[in-house]
Amino acid sequence: MKICVAKDYNEMSRKAANIIGAQVIMKPNCVLGLATGSSPIGTYKELIKRYEEGDLDFSQVKSVNLDEYKGLPRENDQSYYYFMNDNFFNHINIDKENTNVPNGMEPNAEEECARYEELINSLGGVDLQLLGLGHNGHIGFNEPAPQFDKVTHCVDLQESTIEANKRFFASADDVPRQAYTMGIGTIMNAKKIVVVVSGEDKAEIVNKAFFGPVTPEVPASILQMHPDVTIVCDEAAYSKVAR
Ligand code: F6R
Repeated sequence: MKICVAKDYNEMSRKAANIIGAQVIMKPNCVLGLATGSSPIGTYKELIKRYEEGDLDFSQVKSVNLDEYKGLPRENDQSYYYFMNDNFFNHINIDKENTNVPNGMEPNAEEECARYEELINSLGGVDLQLLGLGHNGHIGFNEPAPQFDKVTHCVDLQESTIEANKRFFASADDVPRQAYTMGIGTIMNAKKIVVVVSGEDKAEIVNKAFFGPVTPEVPASILQMHPDVTIVCDEAAYSKVAR
């Protein structure tokens, strides 16, 4: 596990964009695993800037997103489909046909999760997976649990996640209660993983997830076992790591 400590959110975003940009240059038709949330927004902005400056070409890139709320239409501005177009895809030259987000409107969870897992396999797997880190250690929507979930599945969101995400909805009642998410096994199959984490409120979980015991009660802790993972965090998020 490599840890890259940046001064602040902007520097973290530039460093993460360096790694993703290098991936796109080295393998122009790579499969990027992408995340939503506040953590990667700066990284997407940096990648857009580099595209505009002519340094990056996404025309052959394919993408698979980690997760999507169940029951939220794509046009809803809180859907992850909407988020990705708004924050990234609309501003680069990626072919939208090559971008994939689980279909939250497919009511048959088993069918949709099997389709998504199969889709990732048919693309040859993920070359680089970008992740954020939840306050409870979740990655994707893999919440703390007695065991690690392997493949794409439907989850009931935890109260703490609903609380954290309600800031984007009119009220906590409007936050969907379920989501489709890649499993821990799906994530661990990515050839390379980059985690972006910023802010003091994440300091405790950074220490627990990356320097504590590996346990499904802290889902991100499994990343310690991955052969190629880089944590890009800012000083605030790194502040509780014993040095
Ligand atoms: C997003 C996702 C989540 C977030 C996590 C951190 O696709 O899967 O695991 O990465 O909740 O969210 P932020 O970055 O908003 O703190």
